[in-house]
Order: sequence, then C-alpha cells, then structure tokens
Amino acid sequence: MVYLTLLTFFGLSFQFINSEHTDIILLGSTGDLAQKYLWQGFFNLYEKHSSDHHTFTFYGCGRSPKHSATEKLNKILDKNVICEKKNCVDQKKKFVSLVSYFQLASEIDFKNLGQLLKNSRSVTKYEAITVIFYLSIPPEFYTRTAENIHKFCYSVEENINFRIVFEKPFGYDTNSAIQLQTNLEKYFKEDEIYRIDHYLGKSVVREILPFRFVRQLNPEIEKLLNNKHVERIEVVLKETVDCKGRFSYYNNNGVIRDVLQNHLMEVLLLVTMELEENGVKIPQQKQNLLKNIETPLSVLIGQYEDYLDQSNDEAPDLAEFVPTFAAALLSIESPKWHGVPIIFVSGKSLNERTSYARVIFKNNIFCVSNCPNMNQNQQIIFHIGHGGLPSPMILVSKYFKTVEFPQGFNTEHNLEIKKQIYGKDFSEFFSAVPINDIDAYSSLIQDAFNGRKESFIDGSHLVDSWKIWEDILKYSTERIPRIYENGDEHNVLDFKIFGSSLEYVKNIEKEDASDSFSPNSFLGRKLVTAESETLYKALATDIVSKISQQNTQKFHIAFSGGKSPIRLFQILAALLSDVSLNHVHIWQVDERCVSRESEDSNFHHLLKNFLSNGHISIPDDNIHPMPVSQIKRNCDLESKGNTIYEQSIKNHIANKQFDYIVLGLGADGHTASLFPNEPTLSLKSYVAMTWKSVFRMTLTLPVINRAKQISVLVTGKAKRKILKTLEKSDPGSGLPILRVNPTDGEMTWYIDSNALSLTLN
Ligand code: BG6
Repeated sequence: MVYLTLLTFFGLSFQFINSEHTDIILLGSTGDLAQKYLWQGFFNLYEKHSSDHHTFTFYGCGRSPKHSATEKLNKILDKNVICEKKNCVDQKKKFVSLVSYFQLASEIDFKNLGQLLKNSRSVTKYEAITVIFYLSIPPEFYTRTAENIHKFCYSVEENINFRIVFEKPFGYDTNSAIQLQTNLEKYFKEDEIYRIDHYLGKSVVREILPFRFVRQLNPEIEKLLNNKHVERIEVVLKETVDCKGRFSYYNNNGVIRDVLQNHLMEVLLLVTMELEENGVKIPQQKQNLLKNIETPLSVLIGQYEDYLDQSNDEAPDLAEFVPTFAAALLSIESPKWHGVPIIFVSGKSLNERTSYARVIFKNNIFCVSNCPNMNQNQQIIFHIGHGGLPSPMILVSKYFKTVEFPQGFNTEHNLEIKKQIYGKDFSEFFSAVPINDIDAYSSLIQDAFNGRKESFIDGSHLVDSWKIWEDILKYSTERIPRIYENGDEHNVLDFKIFGSSLEYVKNIEKEDASDSFSPNSFLGRKLVTAESETLYKALATDIVSKISQQNTQKFHIAFSGGKSPIRLFQILAALLSDVSLNHVHIWQVDERCVSRESEDSNFHHLLKNFLSNGHISIPDDNIHPMPVSQIKRNCDLESKGNTIYEQSIKNHIANKQFDYIVLGLGADGHTASLFPNEPTLSLKSYVAMTWKSVFRMTLTLPVINRAKQISVLVTGKAKRKILKTLEKSDPGSGLPILRVNPTDGEMTWYIDSNALSLTLN
C-alpha cells in the first residue's frame, strides 16, 4: 500500500507526498504470451522494485467480461507465477492482491479505465508516476487500441512517464510498417513507444555489444571483425516445434516474416555494427548498417511435410507456399564487410532447438611445423540457447590468447561438455555463462520500466529492415518450397554456398524419379506425375507444344485460378518469351469478384507472372479477362457479366471449343468455381455466377467438356485426401471434378508426388 503519513500538528493535517508509483496495464492478459512470460515478468519487476517508496498497481485487461476472465486470470497467476527466491510467497500474495481484471471491449471501457487511473492519482500525490500499457494483442487492433488509449488514458502531466509497449509483428511489409508507424505517431511520441523483439532480451544477445565494447581488453578480437579476417557469419534459429495452434498467423507470415526479418536481423546488427564512436550513438550506427544490407543474394525455402494437412484442419483457407524453413545469403555493402557471406537459417520441425550467431574466421595461415590447429577455423560463438549446451554462453576459440568477458558473465562455471560443440572439443574454447540467466521478457519488462530504449526496436529502423526483405517476400509466396520430413531426417535441407547463391546439396528430383513407383493413369485417364517443379515444366511443355502444333490457326486456352498455376505461369513465360503468340487467345476459367489489383484476383496473378513479362508478345485483344473488375456493374446478377463473357466465347471461338483448359482441384473436390452439390453443376449456360466466400464467375461443365484438351493440375500434400476420395467415389456423386469428362477431347491429370503418394499406400 501507499506509504501515507498524516501528522496532526496544531490541528492541521499534513500529507507527505509519497515518492513513486507505477501502473501496468496489460492488454491480452489471459493470452498465451501473458500466461507463459508476461505475468512472471511483472512479478519479477514487482519483487525487485516495490518498496514503501515505490508502489505498483496491475490491471489485466481483455475483451471478455469481468466475471469469467477474473477467474481465468487468478488461475494463471496462481499457477504460472513462480516463486524462485526464498521467502517470496508473501511477496507473491501481495503482488496478486494488486492485480485486478478490467474489461476493455468498447470505447466506454477505455473511458472508464482512464477515469479510474485518474482517480487513483488524485487520492495520493506522487512525485513520479510511470504508466505502462503493454499490448499483447493481435496487430490488427494496434491502431484502434492506440487511439483509444490516447483519447482516454493518456495524460501529459509533468510527473507522468507514459510508455506503450508493442509486440511484433510491426507490419507485414514496408508499406504496412510505414502505415503502422504513421498511425502510432499520431498518438504517441517515439520515446513513448517500446517495440519488443524478445531476442534483444536474451541474456547472451544483451551482452554482444558489451563483449565488443570491452575492446581495450579484447583488442585482438575487435580488430579482426572485418572482411580481411572473417570467412562468414551465421545467424541461426532452429526449432523442433511445428506450427500447430498458430496457422491463422503463420499462413500469412511464414518464417521470413516471423523470424528472419526481426530476430536474426537484430542479432546480426549487434555483431557487425560499428560501436558507438565519435558521438555517433548506437541507434544511428544500427541504422547506418541497415542501409548497407542488401536484399539477400539468394534464398532457399522449405516446408515441413505435415504443414498443409495440419493447416487444413485448423485454418482451411490456406496459403500453399508458406515457407517454414528458410536459408538466406546476405551481404553488407560497406568497406568493412563487403564480400563476407552472411547466412541466416531458421525453420520449424527441424532436428533440434538451438539459436546462435557465430563468426568464423579465415584460416589462411599455412603452418609448416608443429601444427596442432591445422585446418581449424577460429570462431566466436554467441550461443543464445538450447542446442548441445546446458546454458546460454559466449565461446571464443583459444587461438585468441586472452579474452575478457562482460561483467555478469562467469568463466568459472565448471561445466563439462564431453561431446564436440561447433565442430570442436569444448576445451578448445574460452567460455563464459551469464551469472543470472534471466528470461528475455523479464529483462525487457525491467528495461521498459527503467526507460532503457536501446533494448527495443527503433521506429526509424523498421522501414529499412522491411525493405531488405521486400523482393524476397514477393518471390517466396510464389515459389514452391522444398518439402522436408519432420526433423529433416534425410537431410534434404543441407545446402552449399555457390558463388552468390545457395543451393540444396541433394537433388531430390532425381531421387524421386528413380525411387518412386509412378502409375501412368488415374481414374482411367492419362496421369503425369513428378516432383512439383518437374511437373510444372511437363505441363508447360505440353501447352507450348500444342500451341506450336496449331501453327497460325487460332489457339484458345483458359487458365483456372488459385495459387497452383502461378509457377506454371512463370515457366510458361520463360518458354514462350520472344515467341510470336498472335494466334493465341488467353481466357479465364474462373474469377473472384474483386478488383484486379487484389491478391485474390486470378487475373492479377496471370498478369503478374505471365502476361506482363516483357518478353511475351500477345496482342491485347487476345486477352480475355472475366469482366468482374467493375464489381458493381458486372458482378451483380442483374448486370449479367457472365452473359457478356459467354457471348465473347461464342463470338471468338469456333464451335465454342477451347483448345486447352487448365483446371485445378480443391480439397473439397471443386474445380473451376463449381462447388460440390451446387446448382451450377447442372446449368446449360457456359458461364455462371456463383458464391463461395465472395461472388465468383466461372465456366460451367457444358463448355469445359467441349474442350480438346483438359489438364488438371494437382499439387501439395493437402490434396491427398481428396484424391483418395475420388478413387472411391461414384462419378454421379456431387463432386464437380468427377463431372469433368471431355466429350471429344483428352483429359490428363498432372499430380505432383506430394499429392499422389497417399493414393499409392
Ligand atoms: C517468436 C516466433 O517470435 O520467436 C516464433 O513468432 C518462434 O515462431 C519464437 O518460435 C522463437 O523464440 P525462442 O525464444 O523460443 O527462441
């Protein structure tokens, strides 16, 4: 309780002003992060700083009503706040008595909270008050919440230090990061905003700069941190966990946004930035370095094999090419670092959990006599956690004669590690472990409380750090990731640096071809099957050969939408570049009623990946997008956009017979935008409107089945189930793909090995 002393003297009352108070308001107080780390962090803060002169109040907030949430919150505090020190049970009791739940579901709630905070300040006068709002909520609510906090709970009184803490992600790409920054700046000053990257709170990461700063003691080492001496730098975060429980977040982000753009980049900055010098402060040095980091020269991506199936169960609207593994080759274009390969690696469902940054030095000394260290590269390793070591640690090869470790690190740790570590015996390293290995969130909560902004992400860095990844992010959503088994048992992710690119060591295409049994028909029709990249090439080659067989006679081809054909478009664009395509007409099988700029627009992908490739020469009049872009006019039933498209088909195509149609297959058996058991399946017209999450336009069975060639493209593990169902189903069932039966034409299945394997079991 607040320390208040009332003295009565000659009948007058004096109130001694108590010194300091902190209000902590946690939004998302019963969420995962709060349960695992934040409440413990607040308790540690309370234990360390509460006194008669410094009081605390904690508000756990959320959208749920008070009654049910209070019960949940109490349980969390009871179970998850652990007493580590002796005699802390009483402290915990006091702490819990200072926590109360406050519902924040509407503007009025924010107003009431603001009033409550104000009232509590008017009862007792403090010399200084710190107010920390900690937002552990989904990022889509950041702006609106910030606005409400500013409107109702923000105060500019002199003795109030206001802080607002955000969790990553800070944006989704450069533009959204700028947007978020602009929105936050409307309400708060930069020095009030604390953006958390919890890697900056890890005990070893916190000590990277202090380790380098003791350079008067480590002069040898600091002198060697440059391209003359460093062979390469690796920053790695490997995990054994998969993405269960997080698909709605992960499908939209993938490993590059989740980890490489932030955690790994922050660690790299600390290892390679210039130290504070000649008055240039750390944040400025970081920014200078960020501006010199180029878009990665090369990136490899992978996806663990169960990803699509797991995601399908949890968040069915999946994004197929989400990378769960990435390796990136970066470079810093500064005189100091030019030419040093920097490798980032991170992935889920790998064989071990470990994270580290290591600097590997060149070994360019030819030793002639007495050479115990022959062929050994010297290293400095910031071992952040897990892996083969029992504790976070800094390791330095003993080649360096002496090493000084920062205060707070202990070299007398008596840890005996028998196995090889980072390719060497443990005894070949100097090593030091943190004396207090405090959890990252607890450290950062202390830093936010103490106003130590250097442990947080600076707003001005965000845009530069997103820019580095912009091109890669575009590319990665359209590339098929390499599929790896959980734990990468067969080492398919091993890669090598080859000049300025990374290459997987194993060529799994060849293995697939030789090892696997490939049937040549599926449901009585021709089947082509291979690893996905080969499969796309086979389909593209078939299309190109049919186009050239037609000579100058008109060739009408319709492409269906979705993500699967994107890679096909790219390969086609390469095969057809600089070929005259005056006789080729491009049509759409289906389209969503969204604007052409939207990522959901099928035409958008066709345009971006095929038609707008500068080397494709198709006359504009030969391109026939479905008329959906002016949503109001053509997509509502009355304006009859479908009839316009049907008329266009009849006008242009002799016999109304497409030469080629590329179809896809949905996990529910849909094809084009014809969904199971829908009336559109029995329509006689050629083009129909339908609805599935949005309005769509689609070709119907009568025109599809007239085509000369239909190819059905099926890729990815998520399609295994439906392929199995198709094998067992009656053609008369309501599954649209089973109604595809060209009357005079050919039909071929193109199924990749990931999708097909279950049907063979
Ligand atoms: C988080 C990512 O920021 O960091 C997670 O969102 C990842 O996907 C985690 O698992 C890794 O953190 P740590 O502390 O477990 O290494």
